[in-house]
Amino acid sequence: MELILGIESSCDETAASVVAGGCEVRSNVVSSQIAKHSLYGGVVPEIAAREHLNSIELVTETALKSASATMKDVRAISVTNGPGLIPALLVGLNYAKGLSAGHKIPLIGINHFIAHIYGSFLENGMDRLKNPETYPILSLVVSGGHTALVMITADGTAKIVGTTLDDAAGEAFDKAAKLLNLGYPGGPVIEKTAKNGNPAKFAFPRSLTGAAGRALSEKDRFNFSFSGVKTSLYYHCKNAGGSDKIQGEFLYDTVASYQEALVDVLTRKTLEAAEHFCAPTVVICGGVACNGALRERMKKILPAKRQLVVSHPKYCTDNAAMIAGLGWHYYKEKKFDDYSLDAYSRMSELSSVVFV
Ligand code: KG4
Ligand code: ZN
Repeated sequence: MELILGIESSCDETAASVVAGGCEVRSNVVSSQIAKHSLYGGVVPEIAAREHLNSIELVTETALKSASATMKDVRAISVTNGPGLIPALLVGLNYAKGLSAGHKIPLIGINHFIAHIYGSFLENGMDRLKNPETYPILSLVVSGGHTALVMITADGTAKIVGTTLDDAAGEAFDKAAKLLNLGYPGGPVIEKTAKNGNPAKFAFPRSLTGAAGRALSEKDRFNFSFSGVKTSLYYHCKNAGGSDKIQGEFLYDTVASYQEALVDVLTRKTLEAAEHFCAPTVVICGGVACNGALRERMKKILPAKRQLVVSHPKYCTDNAAMIAGLGWHYYKEKKFDDYSLDAYSRMSELSSVVFV
C-alpha cells in the first residue's frame, strides 16, 4: 500500500504522519505548543511560526522513524496549505516543498477543514466511505476556527449548508475559559469543570434556535452564532462582581450551564439538518468533537436509523494523519500541485471532496 507523508502546521500543533492506503495510520506525531501560547490566553501567530520552525524537522523524522519508513518509501507529500494562520502554514508548506523538490516526490496541498471530516474515517472507515448507503453524509465541523454543517453526497458533491455568523464553537469554549481564568485551551478545562456542576442552573442563550420567542428565518435554520452566549457569560460575571467572585459550586454550575448551551445548540441543529437532508450518516469532527458531553448527547438524540461517526479524540484535534490520509486520494487521482502552491487563511467555497 502506498505511503503518504502528511505535514500539518496551520495553528499551534506541529504534526507529521505516515498513512498507508488512505487510512492505515503507521505513525501520528504531534508536537503541541500549548504551553507557549497559554501565557497569552490564545495562539500568537508569530510564536506559532517560530515554534513550528524549531520542531518540524524532528517531528517529521520521528513520524518516518516510527512508521519504519524513509523518504524513499514515500509516494507523495501532502501538506496543509489552508485555511489557517499564514505565518504558521508557511513553515509546513515550505518544508514540504523542500522535501518534495529534494526527494523528487509529488506535492499535494490539503484543505485543513475537509481533512477534519476525512479524519473521522481513518483506521477503519474506508469500507464505510465506499458504501453508497453511507450517503449523504452530514458533517458537523467544530473546531477553534470553524463551526459548519457540511453535506456530502455519493457523487462527491460537498456543500456548506450552515456556518457560524460570528465565532466558532471552539472560540466560545476558549474565550469562556479565559474570562473565568481557567487557562488555555478552554475546551478540555471547561469539560472537566462542567462535570461537577448543574447544567440546568443558569439559562444561557441558544442563538438562532428560535428560542426566546424570536422567529428563526429560513436562511439561518442551519447557521450558528456564539457571540450572544459569550456576551451573556460576560454579564453573568459582571453581575457576580467580577469573574474572581465565581468560585466553587457557583463556578461549576456556571461552566456546566454554559457548556450545556453550546452542546444543546450544536446537537439540535445537527439533528435537524440530518433529518432535513435525510442523511443516514452523521459525522462530528474538529477539536470540539473531543467533548464528551457533545458526543454523548449526539449519540442519545440521533435516531437509530442514523449512524454517528466520531473518531478517536487524537484524530479530532489537529493532526497530520488526516492530512496524509486525504492526500492518498489525491495521489490516486494524480492531482498534484506545483511549487507555486500558496497558503491561504480563509475557507474558500466548497464544491466537492475527492475521497468519495
Ligand atoms: O481542531 P482543533 O485542534 O484546531 C483547529 O483547527 O481550530 O480545535 C481546537 C479547538 C479549541 O478551541 C479547543 O478549546 C477545542 O478545540 N477543544 C475542545 C475540547 N478539546 C479541544 N472543546 C470542547 N471540549 C473539549 N474536550
Ligand atoms: Zn483543526
